[in-house]
Amino acid sequence: STVFVLNGPNLNMLGRREPSIYGVATLEDIAEDCRKAGASLGLTIDFRQSNHEGELVGWIQEAAEGASGIVLNAAAYTHTSIAIHDAIRAAAPLPVVEVHLSNIHAREPFRHVSKVAPHAVGMICGFGPLGYRLALQALAARFAADGE
Ligand code: DQA
Repeated sequence: STVFVLNGPNLNMLGRREPSIYGVATLEDIAEDCRKAGASLGLTIDFRQSNHEGELVGWIQEAAEGASGIVLNAAAYTHTSIAIHDAIRAAAPLPVVEVHLSNIHAREPFRHVSKVAPHAVGMICGFGPLGYRLALQALAARFAADGE
């Protein structure tokens, strides 16, 4: 099975961006880690990042055509994007696992609301890059239960 791991705006800056909140790992480190985790779970990982809302919408639509699931860190668009919310709905029943490096509930109130969460199978936040691995494990377990 192929899993899209999609990353939203400013996540290309990881490693340099507010390391006290987001850690020192770069996005490429996380991509590498996802590919390793994917290999051990029997998943092919298609890892992408965009600073553009419409590009993320396009990728969600593309995943609905050919992928088995999505791990989505929509970054700031999590809190604002009705377009991403609608794209996830339209992709149903494609499973989406929401990930955030930081614990969004321990931060500013505007981060406490997620427009992704209502249509995600689950959400992992606060564990840094490990969250991506946990999300891939959750999808793999779901695929195994579905006999995929
Ligand atoms: C984030 C949390 C968001 O609130 C923020 O806008 C990000 C990153 C995280 O991974 O912790 O850009 O999604």
